[in-house]
Amino acid sequence: MVHVTIERLGHQGDGIADGPVFAPQTLPGEVIEGDVVDGRIAKPRILTPSGNRVKAPCRHYNVCGGCSLQHASDDFVSQWKCDVVATALKHQNIAVDIAAIHTSPAGSRRRAVFHGKRTKNGATLGLFGRASDILHDIPDCKLMSARIMDGFEMLRALVVLGATRRGQMTLTVTEVAGGLDVSVENGKDLDLGFRSELAEFVPNSGLIRLVWHGEVIAQNGLPYQLFGAAKVVPPAGAFLQATTHGEGVLVDAMRRAVGPAKSIVDLFAGCGTFSLPLAEHARVHAVEDVDAMMAALDAGWREARGLKVVTTETRDLFRRPLLKDELAKFEAVVMDPPRAGAAAQTDELAKSDTRVIGFVSCNPVTFARDARVLMDAGFVLDWLEVVDQFRWSAHVEIAARFARM
Ligand SMILES: C[S@@+](CC[C@H](N)C(=O)[O-])C[C@H]1O[C@@H](n2cnc3c(N)ncnc32)[C@H](O)[C@@H]1O
Repeated sequence: MVHVTIERLGHQGDGIADGPVFAPQTLPGEVIEGDVVDGRIAKPRILTPSGNRVKAPCRHYNVCGGCSLQHASDDFVSQWKCDVVATALKHQNIAVDIAAIHTSPAGSRRRAVFHGKRTKNGATLGLFGRASDILHDIPDCKLMSARIMDGFEMLRALVVLGATRRGQMTLTVTEVAGGLDVSVENGKDLDLGFRSELAEFVPNSGLIRLVWHGEVIAQNGLPYQLFGAAKVVPPAGAFLQATTHGEGVLVDAMRRAVGPAKSIVDLFAGCGTFSLPLAEHARVHAVEDVDAMMAALDAGWREARGLKVVTTETRDLFRRPLLKDELAKFEAVVMDPPRAGAAAQTDELAKSDTRVIGFVSCNPVTFARDARVLMDAGFVLDWLEVVDQFRWSAHVEIAARFARM
């Protein structure tokens, strides 16, 4: 048993004491005690609580691995997320005034990846524990949207019906207009008998679409998302901004970033989160490496009214970034790469004559790396805002504008 003082939080939100010794659910300044196993105190006892400590709002918090910062006040978490961004930029010699932080409310996550397994009396449905592979039931989760939680017992019934005797089923659940879109992996095989059981289950379930092992089993309407004026039906389990609030903030930021530009290229465009709202005022070329997402975006644009021309291109931007001549066709660039960042595309932007870039990122470290390249090529970091769609987790997102004369 040791006594240690927590000095700071690490990137996963764990407290770190000298050693280093990691301890979950602790805060800087707290004196804690516990047994250290492999450099970690799994169950710390808090001897001197921080003034930033609050009672976790969710009863599942002690066991569920879905959240890591419910024990900290909202103000502390906001400041910590801003510090994470500022520190990553400082490592690249970039000073920044963070203009704003936008935090999505509790109960607003519209997408979840749950796991389920059958038990003697029914099924366990939820998320894995912190640093463990134990599955915890989370019927009172405070993170997910009301629509997802209203469907929780229906999802449990789906696990009872569709999980194999020993396996763990994965359910990717997305809130869509009118209900839930669910994509299942690692469930029972789709033989004739099971197909008809699913066909009976779906009609009164609140499921708008059920996809089983990649195959659409049933559809009760259109599982669409509204991107601006366009209705888009994303492929099952496709990337979507985590909350409607966060999406709104990011779209607004990208509108401000591109300003009056009449032609925009949207890189890492997904299903059109930015392309379609921006097409209200500008011609947009959307580029993304998943063909089905480009097809969904295109279909959404074709059905929408009043938008400027939107074109799509399926292309791997890590291997084949847009080159200087291609970039020259657009007055502004929007990009929202995955966690790995956009190194190859950033190198081409540095060589190009591009003047305006709206940059969204879910990884401050790769963002800072790419920002350094842009700034060495004459771009100025005009403004930067922090977006916290992943409330109570250690994730942090950035929306920023780069410009050069
Ligand atoms: C963070 S998501 C953003 C999607 C979209 N901008 C949105 O807001 O919904 C990143 C996107 O980049 C795509 N992507 C990942 N690697 C890529 C690559 N090498 N080339 C092009 N697109 C890629 C992913 O499929 C995903 O849609």
